[in-house]
Amino acid sequence: MEIKEFLEAFKEKRAGLLPILYAFQEEKASITPKEIQEVAKQLKLEFEEIKQVAEEVVGIQVRETPKRIIKVCTNIHCDVAGSDKLIHFLCQTLKIGSGEISEKTDTAFVATKCFGYCDIGPNLEINGKLYDEVTTEKLAKILKKNA
Ligand code: FES
Repeated sequence: MEIKEFLEAFKEKRAGLLPILYAFQEEKASITPKEIQEVAKQLKLEFEEIKQVAEEVVGIQVRETPKRIIKVCTNIHCDVAGSDKLIHFLCQTLKIGSGEISEKTDTAFVATKCFGYCDIGPNLEINGKLYDEVTTEKLAKILKKNA
């Protein structure tokens, strides 16, 4: 579900704040001030309240969208095919955990759910581009190419 659709589903409902913020967390580990303003307008809440919940409850950064967003599928097929090795490699290489942002490389990394290409896993996406049958060796080359 696109974040816009998500916002629409929770239109004017305070209860939608946490699911909306978690959607941003899963999408890019961050939310921009402009996006907070949109959510505030939609849910009729104050900017500062949303910022506080985002940072202190959900634990996402309020900042501009990272240049590079890496998502690794951790659903069962990709997990069995070795996505855990990719996650370990990314944590070591970027020196961050899932749901965090490397300021040095302006890269967000999130472990996420199925992309729908389960038979060619393990899969990951970088800025929306799918990479399949990824090994740690292949990932090292992909990161170099997408630096
Ligand atoms: S389980 Fe990874 S793409 Fe479906």
